Amino acid sequence: MPASLKVLVVDDDRLNRLCLTSMLKEAGHQADACDSAMAALEAMDRAPFDLLFTDVRMPGMDGLQLLAETKARHPSVDVVLITAYGSVEAAVEAMRAGAADYLTKPFELPELAFRLSRLIELRAARSEVNNLRALLGHHCHCGIVGNSTAIQRVYQRIHAFADNDAPVLITGETGTGKELVARALHVHSHRGKQPFVAVGCGTIPRELAESELFGHERGAFTGATQRRKGSFERADGGTLLLDDIDDLPLDLQVKLLRVLQDGTLSRVGGDEEVKVNVRVVATSKIDLEQAVAAGRFRDDVFYRLRGLEISLPPLRERGDDILIIAQHFLRSLPSPRQTRPCSISAPAARALKAYPWRGNVRELKRALETSLVLCRSEEILLEHLPDYVVRQGVSALPQSPFCINLEGREEVKLKELVSQFEDEIIEWALKKADGQQARAAELLGLPRTTLQSRLLPRRQGAASST
Ligand SMILES: Nc1ncnc2c1ncn2[C@@H]1O[C@H](COP(=O)(O)OP(=O)(O)OP(=O)(O)O)[C@@H](O)[C@H]1O
Ligand SMILES: [Mg+2]
Repeated sequence: MPASLKVLVVDDDRLNRLCLTSMLKEAGHQADACDSAMAALEAMDRAPFDLLFTDVRMPGMDGLQLLAETKARHPSVDVVLITAYGSVEAAVEAMRAGAADYLTKPFELPELAFRLSRLIELRAARSEVNNLRALLGHHCHCGIVGNSTAIQRVYQRIHAFADNDAPVLITGETGTGKELVARALHVHSHRGKQPFVAVGCGTIPRELAESELFGHERGAFTGATQRRKGSFERADGGTLLLDDIDDLPLDLQVKLLRVLQDGTLSRVGGDEEVKVNVRVVATSKIDLEQAVAAGRFRDDVFYRLRGLEISLPPLRERGDDILIIAQHFLRSLPSPRQTRPCSISAPAARALKAYPWRGNVRELKRALETSLVLCRSEEILLEHLPDYVVRQGVSALPQSPFCINLEGREEVKLKELVSQFEDEIIEWALKKADGQQARAAELLGLPRTTLQSRLLPRRQGAASST
């Protein structure tokens, strides 16, 4: 939130206008002035403002009507009404009608400065609340961010399955969040305070896998100098995540079946039957049914696991979640600089949405790490995305940039349309230039600084609209 505000002053009295704008400028703010409510509405349609100071009594549309109209058209603009000395009723009415504050004429610079500082605080607090609301809305499932219908189905399943002790199979491409979901299942279950143990079935050396999972007795093999508990026993009372279960050797699948069926196991080198109370959650990146058909996975284990299945959709099928998750990473990843970007430009957002994300959320996270290194401004632009995202993401966009469709529109705002058209052309040039601004400027026959200045108002527009 900038400490300097963009203020519009409305008063039919020229001297009052001059006086207030100069006071505002003296207090360090930008000020423009209009002599009527209609002119003010037009000015606000043309450019963004933070604050509107309006006299109440004006010929034509008065200050209260202007307040109502401004609230309806530009809800982020705070309105301060200026009332004549002593008209307390008007002040009360103003606050009821939604004014952020009121000033009684005549007033001096210190009073104005004090009111302005309160308004700055109010705006900062409001934006903080909005950010927190957005954050809470997207963060209700143990760090799993997203609102798409596809991910909502996943949330429903997590809640439905959490307290059931039967095994769960989580499937999905790499980086779709299978481990996050496994942890969410654990946290939401009655086992949440008990251990959560994760074992990567593909990462343990074959000869150690049995002992790692089921433990061993002293002397079971060379080097087994004492009894050791395996992952199942360490997870007793809690949840065991068997990551990439398709990598589990067939002979260990037999032992796994026994634990799944009656909750017992025997350690390597021992006959003792050990009872465990463990909820098994398994993940797989591949289609286990095919692995069963190919004889690489036991059908009895598969059918036991598949009872409760959560299938994670690829990121490219989650629509706007791509941007919601990207925003989450912008806020949460460590930033190399003190100020971090808080928004994503429209062309960059389009490229992010068009890129296929075969590495899913993990790949998106890496891309945003790169952006945080490259970006020195408040907004992530196309040029701050990794080159491969720009190349592939933008090439997946429609080829012709010059095709604004007006069909079915009742009315159009010329300024908006021209700016959209310009956006498309600039985006087309940046795409052709692989995201390099200097080259894009050349393609457009513009000096680089001119291209940058065309990009700047979009950045400022996005920042002031947050
Ligand atoms: N919906 C999401 N919201 C926020 N972060 C997510 C989301 N999904 C995944 N992540 C993050 O993406 C990264 C990869 O997630 P995770 O390790 O759970 O994926 P995975 O499906 O287990 O991948 P792999 O199959 O490669 O093991 C992690 O840093 C995780 O925190
Ligand atoms: Mg994983």
